[in-house]
Amino acid sequence: MIDIKELDKIVKNTLTVIETSKSQIFDIYEAARNEMESVKKDVERIKQQTVNIIFSVDELEKRERRARLRLMEVSRNFKVYTEEDIKTAYDEAKMLQVELAVAREQEQNLRRQRDELEIRLKTLKETVEKAENLVAQVGAVLGYLGNEMGGVVTKIESLQQSQIFGAKIIKAQEEERRRVAREIHDGPAQAMANVVFRAEVCERLVDIDVERCKNELGDLREQVRSCLKETRKIIFDLRPMTLDDLGLVPTVKRFLDTMKERTAIDTNIRVLGEEKRLDSYVEIGLFRIIQEALNNVEKHAAATSIWVAIEFMPAFILASVEDDGQGFDHVETSGSESFGLLGMRERMNLLHGELSIKSAKGKGTKVMIKVPLR
Ligand SMILES: Nc1ncnc2c1ncn2[C@@H]1O[C@H](COP(=O)(O)OP(=O)(O)OP(=O)(O)O)[C@@H](O)[C@H]1O
Ligand SMILES: [Mg+2]
Repeated sequence: MIDIKELDKIVKNTLTVIETSKSQIFDIYEAARNEMESVKKDVERIKQQTVNIIFSVDELEKRERRARLRLMEVSRNFKVYTEEDIKTAYDEAKMLQVELAVAREQEQNLRRQRDELEIRLKTLKETVEKAENLVAQVGAVLGYLGNEMGGVVTKIESLQQSQIFGAKIIKAQEEERRRVAREIHDGPAQAMANVVFRAEVCERLVDIDVERCKNELGDLREQVRSCLKETRKIIFDLRPMTLDDLGLVPTVKRFLDTMKERTAIDTNIRVLGEEKRLDSYVEIGLFRIIQEALNNVEKHAAATSIWVAIEFMPAFILASVEDDGQGFDHVETSGSESFGLLGMRERMNLLHGELSIKSAKGKGTKVMIKVPLR
């Protein structure tokens, strides 16, 4: 049999591990996103700088061209210009050339940086997307494990419970058979053996002492009568035939009558609403539940009175069995091995009804049932 607790633990552990992975992936996602944002800003900045440098390169190119022209002009007409003028023009042109070279170099650098950043941005975008997908997928897995596996665990659990219940039913059936066998063995079978013995005595007496023989026959008749009664009780316990012939109420009444005779408990029954016949499986189910409640009173309650109420309503039937006995702590007894209360609940489930037990130590017990009618 699968260890449900172990399975539950495994699922829970798996969930924790995945949960941790999810938060790790989320961290990666966050980091990549932050970096992506800052790289985006860098790209913007560099683009702006590139634009600026392009303008200044343009500007410098113009100025450098002008300086070159001026130098050409100055050096061609060296008669008009002084040596000083030529030197100034030369220096000016030279300086602008250098500045232009530097600016061009800067432009190159910025473009290279921009290209690199753009590649980086692309990779980061991919990482962010991948992480996003992963988070979503892991979320789905978590949801699946959390809900579906939870459901699977409960399903296995209820399956196992019904297996346990099945085993209990078989055990209870065997128990019931043993009880019936013992009852027949101790009761009617024993009595019958006695009847045979007494009949032999009568046979011998009939010619010798007619009077004694008559007495013996009288005893014999009583014995057979009580044997018959006992046999009827066993048959009734097995399957109350009055249930099929007369219905629920007369059968419960009969059961209460024999109980009163046997135990001296004062039994009372009250029937409300319009009594009617129910489906046979409902009648037998209801009777078995009431019977078990009554047996429990006899066995455990030490009660002096029992009140049974059966109420017929259009859509459902209500019944209760109440005693003035010692009561019991319902929570304490639940989960014990006994089959009675468990069987009552199972029968109730089969009838789609509700069963509740009100009991407290020293305050008697009341078993209430409500069964919907079709
Ligand atoms: N009317 C009652 N008064 C006092 N105690 C009760 C009453 N009904 C049930 N109990 C307590 O609840 C326990 C469980 O009852 P349940 O019918 O399930 O088992 P059981 O009668 O002991 O055994 P089984 O019915 O299987 O022969 C009983 O052992 C008893 O302690
Ligand atoms: Mg019982």
